Amino acid sequence: MENDATIIQGAGQGLGLALATHILKHQDDSVVVATCREPEKSSGLRKLKQKYTSRLITQKLDVSDEKSIALASTKLSLQIEHVSLLVNSSGILHDDSIYPEKRLADVSASNLARSYEINAIGPILVLKYFRSLIQREKKSVIVNMSARVASIEDNSLGGWYSYRSSKASLNQITKTIAIEFARQLPKSICIAFHPGSVNTRLSKPFQKAIPKEKLFAPDYAATKMVAVIDNLTTTDNGSFLAWDGSNIPW
Ligand SMILES: NC(=O)c1ccc[n+]([C@@H]2O[C@H](COP(=O)([O-])OP(=O)(O)OC[C@H]3O[C@@H](n4cnc5c(N)ncnc54)[C@H](OP(=O)(O)O)[C@@H]3O)[C@@H](O)[C@H]2O)c1
Repeated sequence: MENDATIIQGAGQGLGLALATHILKHQDDSVVVATCREPEKSSGLRKLKQKYTSRLITQKLDVSDEKSIALASTKLSLQIEHVSLLVNSSGILHDDSIYPEKRLADVSASNLARSYEINAIGPILVLKYFRSLIQREKKSVIVNMSARVASIEDNSLGGWYSYRSSKASLNQITKTIAIEFARQLPKSICIAFHPGSVNTRLSKPFQKAIPKEKLFAPDYAATKMVAVIDNLTTTDNGSFLAWDGSNIPW
């Protein structure tokens, strides 16, 4: 049984994998739980497992399947006592059947539903089932990976209805959980986080519009994110922060 562990939900590739790698490399005594839909198919996780055999636990978890989340929580509760850091990193902007909408006419119920399922419903269910892994007397940080485009005040371009609104929903979920946890778990800090524009599968089709110096490598983004997490105090509970630690308007 491990005392404290970090759980990265959505760690098969992209930012989640970079974050798991960064923590294992730089925090000698850390135990990291990396979850994703098919851990055995992630070459990145397989390599990490070879290097950090005893400090990395991989666990199957599909955020669009409540039973999978419940089962993952049950299994992990036999292995870890407390989650010191939980990152909901999984997210969807596009896939084989979804592409971000340019205009209202592009909106479809199925795209909206799939985006909400992965970007908002999944993360809140993860927190519902993993809540039992957070101990009241210990510090715990919960990071929901949001995006600047979820900000209603910052929306000057329009479009991307499914992604923007599902991540805005995740922001509201974050704030609401922060209020509930402040009563039950006074040492917990729950934030929504914008990692910057990061060179991953998710941003690939849109990178032409991003100046080179503003497109972060995943390991750089992970370093910045850990720096923000390390500086969090309970006064940050319920905030929406960017990679440089600045506040983003809701
Ligand atoms: N990249 C950016 O510029 C950027 C900017 C702002 C915010 N973000 C946010 O950062 C987070 C990480 O994104 P990324 O850039 O690392 O994208 P990515 O490389 O596409 O990774 C997305 C992750 O989400 C996982 N995922 C998708 N559907 C899932 C499901 N049903 N169950 C479990 N996992 C699922 C993927 O798992 P599989 O490997 O199994 O597909 C993958 O590990 C996302 O929440 C994204 O919205 C990214």
